Amino acid sequence: MSNLKFDFADKTVLVIGGTSGIGLATADLFASSGAQVMVAGPDEDQGREIVAKFSGSVAFHAVDVRDESAVKLLIQAMTECWGRIDIAINNAGIEGPFGPVEALSDEDCQRIIDINLKGIWHGMKYQILQMLSQGGGVIVNTGSSASLRAISNVAMYSASKHAIAGLTKASAVEHGRNNIRINAIAPGPVRTGLLERMVGGHIQLDEIANMVPMGRIAESSEIASAIAWLASDSASFVTGHILAVDGGLTVA
Ligand SMILES: NC(=O)c1ccc[n+]([C@@H]2O[C@H](COP(=O)([O-])OP(=O)(O)OC[C@H]3O[C@@H](n4cnc5c(N)ncnc54)[C@H](O)[C@@H]3O)[C@@H](O)[C@H]2O)c1
Repeated sequence: MSNLKFDFADKTVLVIGGTSGIGLATADLFASSGAQVMVAGPDEDQGREIVAKFSGSVAFHAVDVRDESAVKLLIQAMTECWGRIDIAINNAGIEGPFGPVEALSDEDCQRIIDINLKGIWHGMKYQILQMLSQGGGVIVNTGSSASLRAISNVAMYSASKHAIAGLTKASAVEHGRNNIRINAIAPGPVRTGLLERMVGGHIQLDEIANMVPMGRIAESSEIASAIAWLASDSASFVTGHILAVDGGLTVA
């Protein structure tokens, strides 16, 4: 667990896909570092639990990232509430079925691309419009080791995560002179529901840990720390970067 201390006092932070796993740990870190945090996700019950857990320091707005008009409303709601979006974390993602590329159905493919790629773009589109109008901001997208290297049996997930790397790099270049920094993190295996659903019944988590040079799976808080650093002023000259947070997996 990181001992890094961040100061996000007076910052407004949006975490889309923030009701569980990496997103929830990220919302927690920003909130405990002084930020006003809006968590968004599809599950209203989870949202209510989070609002109660954080005693009002975290707000919730329901959204399905596949729905562009709902994402637009989310950005409007946040700016009406707090006036600006300093930091946006686009973290929503699904795993898709485990198996070879030829076994994927058209429906599987569509769902993965709609959430993991178009969903991130929907968020970026309205965040960037808002950030242009307010004079700047920071965006961090959640990619994966699968943005950077081959991971077999999750080819369409990997394709969507490679696409996030491209989207991040190109939009960072477009907005370099607009005071908007855009980066992505590329986590290795992290102990969350997504990882268990992705490999459950196929690979034991111990086997996955053994593939990682550091010999273990990450905790969500370790990914949250990297997201917070990218979003902080300490990373003020970092844009268009895909930051591997993977215990050495990508370079092994
Ligand atoms: N766990 C890992 O090993 C791992 C590794 C690399 C990258 N990631 C990425 O990290 C991100 C978070 O995943 P996690 O591991 O914390 O798992 P998770 O399942 O806990 O989190 C995924 C989040 O995305 C949200 N989401 C799913 N569909 C959505 C939709 N249509 N609209 C809005 N939100 C939606 C969920 O509600 C959830 O909060 C994902 O993008 C995932 O691809 C995870």
